[in-house]
Amino acid sequence: MSKTRMLALAAASAVAICLPTLASAQGEVNLYTYREQKLIEPLLDAFTKETGIKVNVVSASSGLEQRIRTEGANSPADVLLTVDIGRLEDAVQAGITQPIKSEIIDKAVPVQYRDPEGHWAGVSMRARVIYASRDRVKQDAITYEELADPKWKGKICIRSGQHIYNNALIAAMIAKHGEAKAEEWLRGVKANLAQKPSGGDREQARDVAAGKCDIGIGNTYYVPLMQNNPKQKEWADAIKVILPTFKDGGTHVNVSGVVLAKHAPNKANAVKLIEWLAGNGAQEMYANMVFEYPVKSGIAINPAVKAFGDLKADTLPLAKIASNKKAAANMVDKVGFDN
Ligand SMILES: [Fe+2]
Repeated sequence: MSKTRMLALAAASAVAICLPTLASAQGEVNLYTYREQKLIEPLLDAFTKETGIKVNVVSASSGLEQRIRTEGANSPADVLLTVDIGRLEDAVQAGITQPIKSEIIDKAVPVQYRDPEGHWAGVSMRARVIYASRDRVKQDAITYEELADPKWKGKICIRSGQHIYNNALIAAMIAKHGEAKAEEWLRGVKANLAQKPSGGDREQARDVAAGKCDIGIGNTYYVPLMQNNPKQKEWADAIKVILPTFKDGGTHVNVSGVVLAKHAPNKANAVKLIEWLAGNGAQEMYANMVFEYPVKSGIAINPAVKAFGDLKADTLPLAKIASNKKAAANMVDKVGFDN
């Protein structure tokens, strides 16, 4: 590692929990992530144990793309691990990525969960689902289209339409039905809201539990997280998860994924880390740690996640969804969804 890079890494690690130390014989790899370092540590330790490659982690809750961009050609970043196609696409748009050229990735990660040009790859998957009141919702199946049905008037709770999770869902609706129909749908959903969009996904379960609404919309992994949190268990207990589908498709999914940094100083090790994350052992371990679905087929699903039922993931390529990101954001403003 050059001195400049070493200094840049030291500066970047000012907020990092794991400071870089001497590289092992197999070298190192610098991982920037929004994931909590403590959460992913066992996974990275397993990688180091298997490969001898040391992982230096820089974790932050925001601004990593900007930081990598500012660091420029001297950026120590090798891999950025983040969640949601919206953020992966932002990284590509920021010009901080390069294609991951790997037959292992091409084989392990289904084509709809990676960038056609290789700039990002999903490593695990979450679904955007319905948190339905156990007491008040009788049905066990639903379509996303049906959320606009007036029978749900005053009964739906959801976070901001501008949040990336909802942005992707609305973008998927545009990809499925075109802008005009999607807008009509979004107006219908808006008309059914019990209250102004607010909070995060867990707060929608909280509000279902409190009787403020019958259905909330949220991501799958929050349910086991709530079940395991003494303060939130009551919210989780009040809901049942329904895996909705599009009328002509499956359940809307998104990924947590990786990009290979444009100026990765340890490119070969970076590719090794990415390939390792898509391997059987890591797929199961990572998905278990974060309560997500493995992207690779044939990997065991965590029992708490499996309990939601059989996921029939929509096959719409995430890149196609991402291409409607801006249209979705404009539509949310146009219909005054958050007002
Ligand atoms: Fe989340």
